[in-house]
Amino acid sequence: CVCVCVCVCVCVCVCRLFSIKTSFKNPCILIRIWKDCVTGLSREERAFQYVLTHATPGDPDSILDTFDVWCSKVEFISNIGPKKGKILDRLLMEHSPLTVLELGAHCGYSTVRIARSLPLGARLYSIEMDQRNAAIAEKVIRLAGFDDDTLRSDYNLERLDFVFMDHWKKCYLPDLQMLEGSGLLGKGSIILADNVLFPGAPKFLRYIRKSGLYEWKIHRAMLEYSKGIRDGMAELVYQGIK
Ligand SMILES: C[S@@+](CC[C@H](N)C(=O)[O-])C[C@H]1O[C@@H](n2cnc3c(N)ncnc32)[C@H](O)[C@@H]1O
Repeated sequence: CVCVCVCVCVCVCVCRLFSIKTSFKNPCILIRIWKDCVTGLSREERAFQYVLTHATPGDPDSILDTFDVWCSKVEFISNIGPKKGKILDRLLMEHSPLTVLELGAHCGYSTVRIARSLPLGARLYSIEMDQRNAAIAEKVIRLAGFDDDTLRSDYNLERLDFVFMDHWKKCYLPDLQMLEGSGLLGKGSIILADNVLFPGAPKFLRYIRKSGLYEWKIHRAMLEYSKGIRDGMAELVYQGIK
């Protein structure tokens, strides 16, 4: 352990000394790589191991709380977290959507959060491009007691009532335009997009301001599991083609 720590410190110093512009300048990334090597697990898998051994199966609240403990005390992963999660919960309660699309499931934290707020008979479609994360998300969803089949059912879909965007920020705008073109958005469909202020999605915000297709507002909140970084979620209500 000591040797690895010394190596990490030397790497950081060398990178800083020569102003090497690599991610290795960030000691957190080096520590994460070191943890990945030592445990043989990704940080998402480490979080899942903790949830598996500490949360109550079949209890979504317990699963979310256990994730929050891990992410705030041990190792950050980019779940929406409890504060912005409450904004998501409130909007879902207010609108009771029957068809929901989530872009970016990561470990399934927000998926479980959404699923527990949906009315009976609602359908949630969740998309995750990273196979390792998707495998974790499936296990987390099953652990929470939500039927995995809801993710796999045939996509016989006519309208999306609610879309939660929390994938790569540069995909927000093209994916929103793709949804507009698909005809799946109807008057009153809600789109909630996370992290529009940090890391930020300026092209997306510029578009929704100009397009005239949405009524929208920003819910300001701190970045998940952080105290000092300001972030926000954009809530859009689709007004239909004018
Ligand atoms: C910020 S994390 C999502 C956190 C999750 N919504 C939560 O709160 O628990 C972003 C995730 O989006 C996924 N992602 C990025 N671009 C994507 C895309 N185009 N399609 C599907 N998933 C994507 C990444 O692999 C990553 O797991």
